[in-house]
Amino acid sequence: MGIQKPRGTQDLLPNVIGNWRYVEDKIRRICAAYGFDEIRTPMFEETGLFLRGIGETTDVVQKEMYSFPTGDKKEQTYTLRPENTASAVRAYLENKVYGQESLTKWFYIGPMFRHDKPQAGRYRQFHQFGVEVLGTQAPATDAEVILMVLQLFNDFGLQDLSVQVNSVGCPNCRPAYREKLIAFFEPKKDQLCPDCQERLYKNPLRILDCKEETCKALSVGAPEIHENLCQECSDHFDQLQKFLTAANVNYVVNPRLVRGLDYYTKTAFEVQYAPLGSQSAVAGGGRYDGLVEELDGPHTPAVGFAMGIERLLLTLEKQGLLPETTVDPSVFVVALGDAAQVEGFKLVNDLHKAYIKAAMDGDGKSMKSQLKHANKINAKYVIILGDDELARGEAIIRDMESSEQETVAFTDVLARVTSLVKG
Ligand code: HAM
Repeated sequence: MGIQKPRGTQDLLPNVIGNWRYVEDKIRRICAAYGFDEIRTPMFEETGLFLRGIGETTDVVQKEMYSFPTGDKKEQTYTLRPENTASAVRAYLENKVYGQESLTKWFYIGPMFRHDKPQAGRYRQFHQFGVEVLGTQAPATDAEVILMVLQLFNDFGLQDLSVQVNSVGCPNCRPAYREKLIAFFEPKKDQLCPDCQERLYKNPLRILDCKEETCKALSVGAPEIHENLCQECSDHFDQLQKFLTAANVNYVVNPRLVRGLDYYTKTAFEVQYAPLGSQSAVAGGGRYDGLVEELDGPHTPAVGFAMGIERLLLTLEKQGLLPETTVDPSVFVVALGDAAQVEGFKLVNDLHKAYIKAAMDGDGKSMKSQLKHANKINAKYVIILGDDELARGEAIIRDMESSEQETVAFTDVLARVTSLVKG
């Protein structure tokens, strides 16, 4: 075969679009209930946004960005967005939204791009549904966004998902913890995997959630973040747990949950579905109290999450929860003879105007081949127009399931079919 789609991308053909619509409809419904408004930001941004926003030492920035020249200024590049939090904050600042409202609640659905090794559940173009709340440091809001993820999963009937929460501290307490980790891992540096050897001085917290068995073994006994949080972070984390417990959330505290993006402060969380294997995180998020300032805005505490829609669909499929595809009842007009073709054409047009799915075969084929066509497209009703019927001012309506037929006056066909289809 000649040209193929890029590695790690998918063609979504009509047979799966129904599943996407199903998921997106539920997402929009829940966003309305929780008071989130939709935003759509560009699919590419200045590269500097992600360098500053996500962090230069992260895997996403170091290995996974698709960057290309802007074509305007030499040296200046754009990058296909690898995530949408940095873009949302850029839009929040650029549009001075902070001056217009004290609390901003946004959601988005759209494609993101990461140049990673494709595998089941990991794509180079994937889709996220995400939410961002800007303007509050209340731990109840962190709990609320976690509850929102869980309610959505619950709406789908999903089971066996695990909620993991952690606190990754803040610029007050993390530097000292970082130093402790470096001191702990330094003597074992040579045994760490090549990635973690690089992370040791740049991002030692990431060693804690390395998936390599050797690194896992080497990190046994590493200093724990919870013993190194400042009072404010510690209190915030206690409060978050209080709210989660009050809402009967079955969560696990995972001190090794370190998210792959640098902007997180305090709360970090993930919702995982273990059968998805190494790509088990269906949703992840947390608090990012410093990001708005990092991008030159006013101090604005914020929290959010994003969910991978492909992973959500994989999870729904594994649990047999994808909806049955339903097809709108359709009408096929069989027209025999020149005059019938013209009347049939007008009738199909009237049916379209009434938002009824209707078609005809304009090639003037035989009755048999037109009925075959009607069967092929699963038409529920067929309207038969022959020159003889027309001469009598009549048409035949046939129910294709029961094979019952009725003859109606041509002037009544539209009303009769409309009432049959719409019930
Ligand atoms: P993230 O953990 O990088 O967080 O991505 C969130 C979710 O996107 C993951 O849990 C996963 O379901 C999905 N995902 C990520 N990469 C891929 C991929 N290559 N293929 C398929 N699915 C993928 C963020 O992006 C943050 N912006 C979330 C956030 C919002 N934090 C605060 N606000």
